Amino acid sequence: MLTTRQMQDEILRLKKEKDICILAHAYQSQNILEVADFVGDSYGLSLQAAKTEHKTVLMCGVRFMAETVKILSPEKKVFLSNPQAGCPMASQMDVEMISAVKAQNPGYTVAAYINTTSELKTICDVCVTSSSAVKIIKNIENKNILFIPDCNLGEWVAKQVPEKNIKLLQGGCPTHVRMSVKDVEKARALHPDAKLLVHPECLPAVSAMADYIGSTTGIMDYARKSDAKEFIIGTENSIVEHLQFECPDKKFYPLSKDCVCHNMKLTTLADVYHFVTTGHGEEIILEQEIMDKARKCIDTMLELG
Ligand code: 13P
Ligand code: SF4
Repeated sequence: MLTTRQMQDEILRLKKEKDICILAHAYQSQNILEVADFVGDSYGLSLQAAKTEHKTVLMCGVRFMAETVKILSPEKKVFLSNPQAGCPMASQMDVEMISAVKAQNPGYTVAAYINTTSELKTICDVCVTSSSAVKIIKNIENKNILFIPDCNLGEWVAKQVPEKNIKLLQGGCPTHVRMSVKDVEKARALHPDAKLLVHPECLPAVSAMADYIGSTTGIMDYARKSDAKEFIIGTENSIVEHLQFECPDKKFYPLSKDCVCHNMKLTTLADVYHFVTTGHGEEIILEQEIMDKARKCIDTMLELG
């Protein structure tokens, strides 16, 4: 039997020996973050993917994140640490549906949240992430923007960029929409001095009650730098634990015990161990044409962001 520590030591040794870069989204478990080369939000992971020099990349996150790495670094071997980890929001809208909406709205620039499939990105103009969306939407020349698929994130962006005409469709994160105004009222009653920090994928009524709204790393940065001592966290509950490790002198509470993304939680340290020891895992293979077309959308995000 191996302990967590022994497994981590073996991963750290083998990833160096085999030139493997481990990228981890901030929602991964603490024991995975400790062996990762880079931890971040979707935008940070994209930047890292564009500049990593390793021959092999292992993504601990969900499928669209591994596909983004492959598109930005097609010469590398990219693996998804748990092949079942997909983002349900990414499969809410497909090429057929958005082609039909585009045909009804000629002249609109299509801004796709990065939580979309590579196929869908091929017919969009620009990608955005939660931490880059406002800046990118402001920087788009066109006034008319079709924002897909998350209408909650889209509404949050639209409020900050009133000069744009932003059309939204009904889509969103099934994990973040579980948090309600009632959850906020309960948490505030229990922790009256705590600041409420939420992700923009939350329902607008929940976001409206927050002290800060931002991406996963935005929330973590805010909590690190703030003079406040208590925080209610309105995003995936792993962030509560990570912040508690980073800031032991502060207290963190989940806005709702139900804010768990089962897809993000699928990946275990054992998956990472299995990959570095055997090399077996799901390699991301995408058609060249899809990569080329989807890349335009991601490159435009990196340029405008
Ligand atoms: P971030 O870009 O904030 O990490 O969001 C990704 C995500 O899937 C949030 O649910
Ligand atoms: Fe997708 Fe929501 Fe999970 Fe993020 S938290 S990966 S948006 S389902």
